[in-house]
Amino acid sequence: MSQKWKQIGGCAIAAFLFVAVQSEAAQEDRAAQGRKLYDNLCAACHTDKPAGMLGQSVDSLVVKMEKVKNLTQPPNEKVEEMQAVLEDISAQDMENIAVYLNGLK
Ligand code: HEC
Repeated sequence: MSQKWKQIGGCAIAAFLFVAVQSEAAQEDRAAQGRKLYDNLCAACHTDKPAGMLGQSVDSLVVKMEKVKNLTQPPNEKVEEMQAVLEDISAQDMENIAVYLNGLK
């Protein structure tokens, strides 16, 4: 292989590794954000380690949160309170919380 192709190959591998490390860091960052939100906003009602939510997929956790958020007739005050909390956070926040819960065992 010519020197030039080796250089190009090296750059491609470096770029690939760079992107892989970046996205892993981004994922950890989101979980850290989610953890902060969860501890502050959710743990009081759902405990530190909510048995029914641990390790569930991010999508299904977000769907469940959305479902509670969109209930037109919340069955009790607790659910109403949870709705108020969800009203105040962004879709991105909800997803970060889901990423955090998904990573818990
Ligand atoms: C004031 C208490 C309260 C707060 C605060 C609260 N929740 Fe809830 N949450 C409830 C209650 C009550 C239910 C309905 C009963 C149940 O499924 O446990 C519920 C249901 C849920 C469900 C659906 C569970 C299922 O299996 O369908 C999810 C997911 C959830 N909460 C996540 C959260 C997250 C994330 C937060 C923080 C942003 C939060 N909750 C804050 C009380 C609360």
